[in-house]
Amino acid sequence: MKYTTLKKTDMKISTIGVGTNKIGGHNIFQGLDESEGKAFLREAIHLGMNFIDTADIYGPARSEELVGEVLQNIDVKREDLIVATKGGVQWGQPGGNRKNNDPAYLRSAVEDSLKRLQLDYIDLYYLHWPDNVTPFSESIGELVKLKEEGKIRAIGVSNLPIEQLKEAAKVTEIAAMQSDYNMFDRTVEKDVLPFCAENQISFIPCYPLASGLLGGKYKVGDPVPKGLTEEQFHQRIEIADKLKPIASKKGTTLANLALAWLLAQDGVDSVIPGGRGPDHARGTAKAADVSLSAEELRVINEILTQGKTTVS
Ligand SMILES: NC(=O)c1ccc[n+]([C@@H]2O[C@H](COP(=O)([O-])OP(=O)(O)OC[C@H]3O[C@@H](n4cnc5c(N)ncnc54)[C@H](OP(=O)(O)O)[C@@H]3O)[C@@H](O)[C@H]2O)c1
Repeated sequence: MKYTTLKKTDMKISTIGVGTNKIGGHNIFQGLDESEGKAFLREAIHLGMNFIDTADIYGPARSEELVGEVLQNIDVKREDLIVATKGGVQWGQPGGNRKNNDPAYLRSAVEDSLKRLQLDYIDLYYLHWPDNVTPFSESIGELVKLKEEGKIRAIGVSNLPIEQLKEAAKVTEIAAMQSDYNMFDRTVEKDVLPFCAENQISFIPCYPLASGLLGGKYKVGDPVPKGLTEEQFHQRIEIADKLKPIASKKGTTLANLALAWLLAQDGVDSVIPGGRGPDHARGTAKAADVSLSAEELRVINEILTQGKTTVS
């Protein structure tokens, strides 16, 4: 495994981290097998992936509980693990989930996450979604207090457009920013990613494998995944099919080519691919050893540009 430093901290994070929304995220995914999910996390940790990403809303709450169970029963020192979670979306509300960045709510969310994770402190706590009501001085201001109290060690933000990211960065030192970014969705390249690179904020892409579309298993004729039109789905399969020979030539997989491509982008410090079982962890761990030359990056970008991926 390779490691880097989470910006504005002294925390050593693996460049291949662990996404855990498929461990207990029953409110988002169907048919999850919790014991396989826990085996995925255990295997990832044994392979040196120490940057663990969860959120209270995955489940809700179940992903954090399962992460907590695994961490209680693993032979790795607490200080060698960097556990990130997120809050700011309240569930069980009339009308469904409600974004809530109220300081008192965030404080209770941090306390609840600590209990579920069975930890004394959270290494990185993200404001998951803006509620577009609470000023950052209050929401992030409360996270600053929680940091001073030792309940969290660093502050991150997630899903913020550029103007809000700039505002958030005025309140305190933001260590990490998390937003959608993968070969098929390059929207952040326009402004968010360069801002992170220029301002010493670790950019952590969510959905690094486009929810599995970059796993390499899809073919024309498969059911179209939720959220895509048939045309978009076919276009993505076409791009994936053009990238597969590049991966093979390098002795790697499409998934690991996609992760290495993200890690080659200025501002990206770690990727957090999700997985459903230990084989996924064994596969993605190897992405840490894939490096792409300038010429390989040029060829890949040409394929992505021809495929009209969403660069605005
Ligand atoms: N901040 C936010 O708002 C936000 C939003 C979304 C996600 N996230 C974070 O991002 C993490 C990752 O998201 P995600 O799991 O939804 O999507 P993802 O990482 O893009 O895709 C994960 C999927 O890729 C496939 N895969 C994984 N390892 C593979 C391997 N070695 N070889 C081939 N295929 C492989 C599997 O697909 P199959 O299961 O289909 O085989 C797996 O379920 C989450 O766990 C979460 O922590 C954050």
